[in-house]
Amino acid sequence: MTSDTPHQVERVDAVLPAASDAPAVRATAVSKVFATKTGDVAALSEVDLEVAAGEFVALIGPSGCGKSTLLRLIADLDQASAGTLEIFGKPAKRARADQDYGIAFQQAGLLPWRTVGANMALPLELHGTGKAERGARVAELAELVGLTDFVDRYPDQLSGGMQQRVAIARALAARPKLLLMDEPFGALDEMTRERLQTELTRIAAETSAAVVFVTHSIPEAVFLSDRVVVMSPRPGRITDVIDIELGGARSEALRESPEFFDRVTAVREALHGAPVTRASET
Ligand SMILES: Nc1ncnc2c1ncn2[C@@H]1O[C@H](COP(=O)(O)OP(=O)(O)O)[C@@H](O)[C@H]1O
Ligand SMILES: [Mg+2]
Repeated sequence: MTSDTPHQVERVDAVLPAASDAPAVRATAVSKVFATKTGDVAALSEVDLEVAAGEFVALIGPSGCGKSTLLRLIADLDQASAGTLEIFGKPAKRARADQDYGIAFQQAGLLPWRTVGANMALPLELHGTGKAERGARVAELAELVGLTDFVDRYPDQLSGGMQQRVAIARALAARPKLLLMDEPFGALDEMTRERLQTELTRIAAETSAAVVFVTHSIPEAVFLSDRVVVMSPRPGRITDVIDIELGGARSEALRESPEFFDRVTAVREALHGAPVTRASET
């Protein structure tokens, strides 16, 4: 045995246990510059963000402020120009290899030759889950996103909104401790969207998964989150972080409560650059 070769130390086929006290996400002084024909674009500048295990954080801000870029760096789908990213204490690349997170982006990105059920089961197959358990989990997931009657259909037989629900189910399939979501409900009608928001808060609480959730919607950010991170463009950076403090269990009634409107106002003012004058912050 040549146990001193670096290859053996750096093998990525064995899953490293996540450090138990490490945050789900730690971004430190992260910058991203895109070189384009018309010059450099500073998509992110010196972003510091820590998401605790089990915490729900929404990223909100105008188009082009770097929300998707930040999520893609966390997911190791692109590399930062400067700074460091850690997922449960591991480098982003390692966390990707270990499948430490589930992803649901704007585009459903389903495999057209697989049925709805087989698409939902994909992460389970990659995790080596047995067939019987996969079948049971797919039935659960299909129920959760309201697609029980569609598990044997193919993606092109579904509406865009239904395809997106399959993608959400797929992200949840392996019960990851971190979910990365980029406007996953953007294409859905308002009623389905609110139902899935409620489901998502319940699932996140039940599985104690941390979530980083990109959205354009202020009420959606407030309803879902423990903290709302407000970003601004040119260069993309974090300008405000608002503690929502509405408790763990989010019910439909919350949407009509004065506390909810108070937080919506706070986020709106932060987005518009006005001073936030919540009594709880003085
Ligand atoms: N692959 C890329 N090449 C060049 N510029 C990019 C690329 N991806 C994003 N950008 C630019 O980086 C900035 C941030 O983009 P993005 O993260 O998509 O913003 P958001 O998701 O907040 O709308 C924008 O100015 C965008 O045009
Ligand atoms: Mg985006």
